[in-house]
Amino acid sequence: MRLSVNVDHVATLRNARGGRFPCPVEAARCCIGAGADGITVHLREDRRHIRDEDVRRIRAEPGLRLNFEMAATPEMVGIALELRPAACCIVPEKRAELTTEGGLDLRAAGAPLAEAIGRLAGAGIEVAVFVEPDPEQIALAAALGAQAVELHTGTYADAPEAARGPHLARLRAGAEAASAQGLLCHAGHGLDECSVGGIAALPQISEVSIGHFLIGSAVFHGLPGAIARMRAAMQAARAA
Ligand code: PXP
Repeated sequence: MRLSVNVDHVATLRNARGGRFPCPVEAARCCIGAGADGITVHLREDRRHIRDEDVRRIRAEPGLRLNFEMAATPEMVGIALELRPAACCIVPEKRAELTTEGGLDLRAAGAPLAEAIGRLAGAGIEVAVFVEPDPEQIALAAALGAQAVELHTGTYADAPEAARGPHLARLRAGAEAASAQGLLCHAGHGLDECSVGGIAALPQISEVSIGHFLIGSAVFHGLPGAIARMRAAMQAARAA
């Protein structure tokens, strides 16, 4: 199972002082050096953290698997087609939100989303859509031509540990539904060293995307330490 590290919050810290430090590109290199399998960045319409230049520089890093998180807007599709990252994850985006608040509602998405997915996939990019672990949404993802779903783990991860069971059961059913539809299955949002275990134990999940917790944990353990701890938690759960 791959660990893709989201470095958006390194950019948030940099932008707080308007300078160049800490640099998300340097952070991306450090993560890969510490054993991360890829880097995720979310270029938002308002450029509140990651900026265009960061994405370009991270994309230029040799051998780095870049997962470009994006809204399906003409601007972002254009950037993705120019940069050709290994993967794109299409997410809903609202200006006022602190972070992505949930999965896409694919019942409301029609031809424009299918066209965006088709253009990205036609350029050789692996396209995922970020959805709730709902079999209807997962079936729609396949019908729209996505190769992968990223299941929203935020509700599960934010629940008190003792109340996570039903949320994990939904994620398990979602992972099975994705696999039955022939889709790759990723997961992410809100995961930490404790909550990642339930997700890592699901055999269909081939990638987790984790940002906020890892960048926060790096304050105490350094980025390599934070990644090593997360990997250990993932491996322990999968082995069990
Ligand atoms: N996956 C998606 C689709 C996201 O929008 C985010 C947040 O940018 C993440 C994963 C990572 O979430 P977190 O920062 O809570 O680990």
